[in-house]
Amino acid sequence: MTSPEVAIFPDAPAVAGEAARRWVQIARDVIAARGVFTVALAGGSTPEALYRLLARPDCADAAMWAHTQLFFGDERLVPPDDPRSNYRAAREALLDHVPLPTNHVFRMQGELPGPQAAARYAETLSREFTLPTGGLPRFDLILLGIGTDGHTASLFPGMPALEESGALGVHSAVPSYVNPNVDRITLTFPTLNAAAHVLFLATGAAKAPAVRDTLAPSAADQLPPAGRVQPIDGALTWLLDAGAASLLPPYASGEELRHG
Ligand code: 6PG
Repeated sequence: MTSPEVAIFPDAPAVAGEAARRWVQIARDVIAARGVFTVALAGGSTPEALYRLLARPDCADAAMWAHTQLFFGDERLVPPDDPRSNYRAAREALLDHVPLPTNHVFRMQGELPGPQAAARYAETLSREFTLPTGGLPRFDLILLGIGTDGHTASLFPGMPALEESGALGVHSAVPSYVNPNVDRITLTFPTLNAAAHVLFLATGAAKAPAVRDTLAPSAADQLPPAGRVQPIDGALTWLLDAGAASLLPPYASGEELRHG
């Protein structure tokens, strides 16, 4: 089981800056080694600051984008131009501003019925990662956020998708308290845990209880969905601001570094 690196920063902009630095470093190393960098984006609002940084010409060069293949960790079942779409958010903050070939962007088709969208995405992953039957895609980097209920991607507490072990991605309903209250498509834990590097971003004191329950759980059986992201043979990193880290005990887990 991977022991996470936990890095704590003064504020959300510092978290975004560190995430951009790590994204570019991982991408450059992987592209130098294998010629292509595969990354799955997180949805929600936290990563928007990261995406806007990555969109800046002084952050990442055209060579990186030319060798990047960009996927999504989850999506709302809405059309791609819907304000609730994770794809639309990523397009506006990042994709419209960088020389990433359009055929290198693989969005989840939220405009389709859930099961069909999930099946289509699984086919896309199988094709793009040249998977054998039953194989898992090994993303070079997966970005994830965490909800105040401890969900990640669209793997919500109490939902059947948590127990999915065969499919690469599934359709899931959401609990009634979730906003936006639309069904989702989400990568499953086996897919997330096959990644070479998972990078969680969490900012704001509202996330502190979920971060504590994930990184310093009082009981193993109380682990929230985010706590079940444990790359089998990959790195796990949490980038937190002071608010999100505010309920962590000292040296909660792994190598805790306080920055800035
Ligand atoms: C989504 C995300 C979701 C998100 C968390 C945190 O589709 O909403 O994939 O898992 O990462 O809900 O969202 P915020 O960053 O907006 O707090």
